[in-house]
Order: sequence, then C-alpha cells, then structure tokens
Amino acid sequence: MTTPSPDKTSETWQNLSTDWITWAERLAPAAEKINRHMIEAADLEGLSAKRHGAPLDVLDLASGVGEPAFSFARALGGGSAEDRVNIPGVSGKVTASDIVPDMCDALVERALEEDISNITAVPANMEKLPFEDQSFDVVSCRFGVMFCDDPDQALREAFRVLRPGGKAVFMVWAPLVDNPLFAAMDAVLGNILGIGFDAAGLDPFGFGDVDHATDRLKKAGFSDVTDTSHSPAGRIPETAPFWKPQMDMLFGNVLRNSSDMEVGAINAAMFETLAPYIEDGHFQVPICFHVLSGTRA
Ligand SMILES: C[S@@+](CC[C@H](N)C(=O)[O-])C[C@H]1O[C@@H](n2cnc3c(N)ncnc32)[C@H](O)[C@@H]1O
Repeated sequence: MTTPSPDKTSETWQNLSTDWITWAERLAPAAEKINRHMIEAADLEGLSAKRHGAPLDVLDLASGVGEPAFSFARALGGGSAEDRVNIPGVSGKVTASDIVPDMCDALVERALEEDISNITAVPANMEKLPFEDQSFDVVSCRFGVMFCDDPDQALREAFRVLRPGGKAVFMVWAPLVDNPLFAAMDAVLGNILGIGFDAAGLDPFGFGDVDHATDRLKKAGFSDVTDTSHSPAGRIPETAPFWKPQMDMLFGNVLRNSSDMEVGAINAAMFETLAPYIEDGHFQVPICFHVLSGTRA
C-alpha cells in the first residue's frame, strides 16, 4: 500500500505502528466494550429503517489496527457467529482507513484471522479523503480527529462523504485533569525523559472542551450534535504495570531508545503516582471520554 501523505504526523504514527500491532489483541476486549457507545450513538437500526433495510456503508477514520472498525463490522453482521452482534434488520460493510499503510495492512491481517469479511482498508489522510461526496451512511472515528494537523478540515471531509440523513460519531478524550493515567504519564515521562505529550507533538485532548468540540462539529455542517460522557474505571491487580500498553502506543518510539535504568525509574514513578487509586489490591483508575455525534441533514 502507498503512503497518503508523508509528513511529520504520519511519521510519528508510522513509528508507533509496531506498538499498536503488538497490543491489539490484548486490548481488543476492552476496546469492544467502549466501542458499544459509538455503535449506540450511530443508531444503526434507525438508519437502516430509513434506508428501507438496505445494507449500510460505514467509514471508519484513523482506524489504527481496527478500533472501532471491527465492532462496527460485527454490528453489521460480520465475523464469526459467536462474536457477531445481531441488530435486527441491520447489515452492511465497513471501510476502515488510516494515514499509516502499515496500520491498514495489520488491520486486514487481523480481520482475516477473525473471519470478518465485511471490512476493507484504504490508507487515507482524513483531511483529504479519497471518497466521493455522499458515499457513506455512517462515519466513525475513535481517538483520531484530535491528532490531525487541521481537525476542522477533517470534520468537513467527514461531513462531505456522508449521505443526507447519515451520522458521524467521534470518540474523544476528556481533558487531561479527568484522565489520571495520562496525567501521570505526561508528568513522569516529562521528568525522566524530558518528553511529554507537548514535546512528542501529540495533543490527545484537543477535543476535551465539549462546548468547543460541539461548535466545531456544527461549523463543519453537522446538525443535532449530541454528546455523552463516559468514565469507566478498570480493575487491575496492583502488581501489573497496566500503563504499559498506552505508554508504548503513544511513546514507544522514545521508550525504545531509553536505557533499562530509565525504564525502571519510569515504572517506579508511575506506580507511585497512581498508588492513590489502589483499592482492595487493585488499581482502579478512571478514564474519561466523550462520544460526540452529528447528523448530515
Ligand atoms: C490514537 S490512534 C487511534 C487508533 C484507533 N482508532 C483506536 O482507537 O484504536 C490515532 C490514529 O490516528 C491516525 N491518524 C493520525 N492522523 C491522521 C490523519 N490525518 N488521517 C488519518 N489517520 C490519522 C494514526 O495513524 C493512528 O492510527
């Protein structure tokens, strides 16, 4: 597959793609759980009814190695019988996409392994989509739009490719203060390696202000913009360095060049910073995110 636009952003994610591939399977059950909020917001049943039962076309943007593209594919009738989510009268297919071709390749490989046949992957910069106007019923994007160089252009593109009556659904992080895991990571890596989110050129929280995010969707053309807030807390034995997947997937390129001593210090500092969240022998650290949805009238 060819690279859509080799710039700084795609280079950062290209360098992180091996970390995303490494963790994909282990994180899939937790991903599936939170993806349900996006599927609910997309109202596949209502859209299907409006389309008189015609198969739906879903476009997932910045899919990484498959979330929430796989969940949408299963909700549209794909995957093995035991994993499939049966929504009466709903069928269709998913076009997954990401700016990093290696992510798309890994996604296709995983789909084959999981027997999901109603999904394809197209490398694409979501600021300049290679799709015709009005070609999808749903556009989804989980933790992706905030990483674009020009997120408003990405929102306009999402609007452009939606059919009238179609829905766009974005999962976005709440601010850093509401996400203690990320706050700890930012402080600890800043102290020990001199690199936090800012220095790494990553802004996961650019859509954290819900009022501002809602305005941005409206400016891109969306109507009926809604927001739901979610704060699940994990329950992970205190002996597990549970921050490792997220840390690898955001800072793996930096950690690979760190010494064993630095990595040891990072793990010790993460434990200490998050220790107040240990209850009953388990880390119970909340994460907080929003699901924003909008309709193309
Ligand atoms: C935090 S990851 C989220 C991946 C996946 N949606 C998930 O939730 O597991 C962000 C993804 O956005 C992709 N990305 C960043 N900028 C992009 C752009 N302009 N167009 C398309 N994808 C982009 C990255 O390659 C990366 O896979």
